[in-house]
Parts: sequence; structure tokens; C-alpha cells
Amino acid sequence: MKFAVINDLHAQFAPDSHQPGYPDANRRAAWMLRQFAAGGSLADVDFVIGAGDLIHGEDIASIRSELNAFKPHLEKFAVPFYPVCGNHEIRQAEGDPAYEAPYREAYGDDRFDYVIPAGPVEVIVLNNAGAFHVTAPRREARANALKRMLQANPDKRKILVCHIPMVPLRERDVLRRSFGFLSYINLEVELNDLLDEAGAAVPLVISGHLHITGMVERRGVKHLVTSGTASFPHDYAVVTVSPTAIDVEVRSLPAELHEPKSNIHGPPRYATGFTDAAHPTHDLYLRGNDHERRFSIKL
Ligand SMILES: [Fe+2]
Ligand SMILES: [Fe+2]
Repeated sequence: MKFAVINDLHAQFAPDSHQPGYPDANRRAAWMLRQFAAGGSLADVDFVIGAGDLIHGEDIASIRSELNAFKPHLEKFAVPFYPVCGNHEIRQAEGDPAYEAPYREAYGDDRFDYVIPAGPVEVIVLNNAGAFHVTAPRREARANALKRMLQANPDKRKILVCHIPMVPLRERDVLRRSFGFLSYINLEVELNDLLDEAGAAVPLVISGHLHITGMVERRGVKHLVTSGTASFPHDYAVVTVSPTAIDVEVRSLPAELHEPKSNIHGPPRYATGFTDAAHPTHDLYLRGNDHERRFSIKL
């Protein structure tokens, strides 16, 4: 059982797209998506998860037109595709029916919080893309959905995929400044409480949103974030699951597609690139250390 996780493509395929997006993001998004079509280099995976921000939507009209323009790329896939809601798919309006409508139209009503069977394990998809903008009813429904999915099928270990990371992927104060948005981490404590209760049942959490790559361990759970393709260093993940292990490998897009100006944690957005104690160079801050990019979890 092998699946790929792609995220933060920030594609602007709609012909009327005029919002400023990420430099050359469409070229990289198109390359990434082509790999899952017949004959593509990743057409042998069992399925693909799109971990949010696959489009660069800003308001209801642009979200709808970008989702429509994205669809023909998915139709060429030789393997099943499972979406995860990102903030750019709903403009952080989690729980707002008007903003959630284009996503529902594109992917179906059952693609916010759901479970993907993955051989020896199952993948739990959770929508936490609204971050702290979440409505109170949705916040409660979100926690109940996670609880329900964690409690179902107790014989299966689970991998959680949600757009916004559950833990800080770099030194907390540094990351808050380098990312520049309060959504650098999921701020609703009840979700981490549920993960704490689940313990070893959920050995891996996969997210996007930060536009950097890293893995940190919290209470025995490995939390992986991949940069996605819009921002340098343009990473995605391949996850292989056997009855005895989950093997994670982060891969970069081909070097000829790289665009260092797409970095949001250093120049040109900031005069100098951020670093922290565990990532003493800016390159390591963006890519993560080797053990963050390739690791194995025993089942
Ligand atoms: Fe993003
Ligand atoms: Fe995001």
C-alpha cells in the first residue's frame, strides 16, 4: 500500500485568474498533477491525497472558478484522488455554508471529515482549515467528527491528515514570525486532547499550510509537514504502509522547476532567511534535517 500526499499547489488555472499568486506555481502544479496520469512517475501509487490549498482561491467566485479549472487535471488521474480542505478552498470560513459550497460542488458533501481505507491502517481526513476563524458550531462538530473517526475500527492504526499542523514545526516563536499568520498552528486545544487520548493509535499526522518541510515528534506521535509545490523547496511525500511499518519519504520537484523567490520564510518576503536552534541554516529551516525528510514508524 503506497500513497502520495501533495499540498499547497496554489494553482491558478482559471483563465480569469488575476489575483497575485506564487511565481510559476501553475508550472509546478501541472507537473505534479501529470505524475498521477497514466504513464506518470507516480501512477503506481494506490491513491493521492491533496492536503489543502491545491488552488489559490480568495473569495467565493475565485474559489469556484479555480476549483472548476482544476477538475480537468484530476480527471486525467489514473489513481483515486482524496481532497483535504485547505484555507484557500474556503477562505478560512470553516463552518460557513456559502464559502463551503464550491468545495462541496467540486468534491461532494462527504469530503470534509472522512476516512480512507489504506490496507493495514486507515487515513483520517479532518477539515481544520478555518483555523481560529472556525464557527462555534463547526468547532464542536469538528471535534466530534475527529472523536468518532478515532473511535471507529479500534483494530486499525490511523494516520491523521489535516491542512493546518497540530504542533509547531519549528521553534514556536520563530515560526510564528517567519510564517507571519496566527494559523502557524492549530489553536483549538480539544483536537490535541483527542490525539493525546488516542496515543499510539495515531502514530503519524500529516499537514501542509506552512510552506516549509519538517517533522517533529510530540508524545510519541510524528507530525510531518511538507512544503507543497508552490513554495521553495517544492516538496511532496510518498508514504508506504506495510503490516509492520509506515515509511515516509519526502521528495522535491525536479531542480529545473525550482523558484527560490517563492519562499515565504526568507527573501524576498524578508531581508534575511529565518533559522532556529535545530535548523542553523536557512536552507535547513526550509527543508528540514535529513531525519525529518525520511523516517520509518514501526507498527
Ligand atoms: Fe498554502
Ligand atoms: Fe494554507
